[in-house]
Amino acid sequence: MNNIRLRPATIQDGPTILSWRNDPLSRQFSFQTEPIELEHHMQWWLASLKNPARTILVLENENGEGLGSLRKDKLPTGEIELSWMIAPEHRGKGLGSSMLRLGIHGTTARFIARIKPENTASCRMVEKLGFSEIQPGLFVLNSCD
Ligand SMILES: CC(C)(COP(=O)(O)OP(=O)(O)OC[C@H]1O[C@@H](n2cnc3c(N)ncnc32)[C@H](O)[C@@H]1OP(=O)(O)O)[C@@H](O)C(=O)NCCC(=O)NCCS
Repeated sequence: MNNIRLRPATIQDGPTILSWRNDPLSRQFSFQTEPIELEHHMQWWLASLKNPARTILVLENENGEGLGSLRKDKLPTGEIELSWMIAPEHRGKGLGSSMLRLGIHGTTARFIARIKPENTASCRMVEKLGFSEIQPGLFVLNSCD
């Protein structure tokens, strides 16, 4: 899809992100599978937006419609841990791969991602971008551009 971009998340994105997060597939592929309450989520969301080690980006189209989100956490080791979601109605169109490519482009870092083995689409996304699986479910990319 053309004309997609990543922008920093805002407070207003919180409820939309929660609706994607509570979607059954997102829950199945998360390490915490219980549905999350809005109040609890918004506490986490506000703290996340203030956290200097965390960046949350929203993928949007030219109309400003939210399509997905990408989280980057700078770990004490200096690595950047990535996690992502595509809005349920926009899955299967190549957006996950495009978002991840946009999200790491231009950053020199060691990226890591933890992915459940049954999450075939996410495993495929990282493999296409050159990540290596160094332990079961732990994917790493040493990016140099
Ligand atoms: C994982 C997720 C982000 C993928 O996004 P997407 O936009 O649907 O993925 P894409 O369309 O870019 O597809 C990526 C690859 O996976 C494949 N794929 C997509 N959906 C698939 C499915 N349901 N089963 C198997 N493979 C699938 C695609 O064919 C593509 O591979 P290809 O390039 O070789 O054809 C999306 O399904 C999602 O939000 N899932 C719930 C949240 C989640 O799993 N987050 C990651 C936690 S680590």
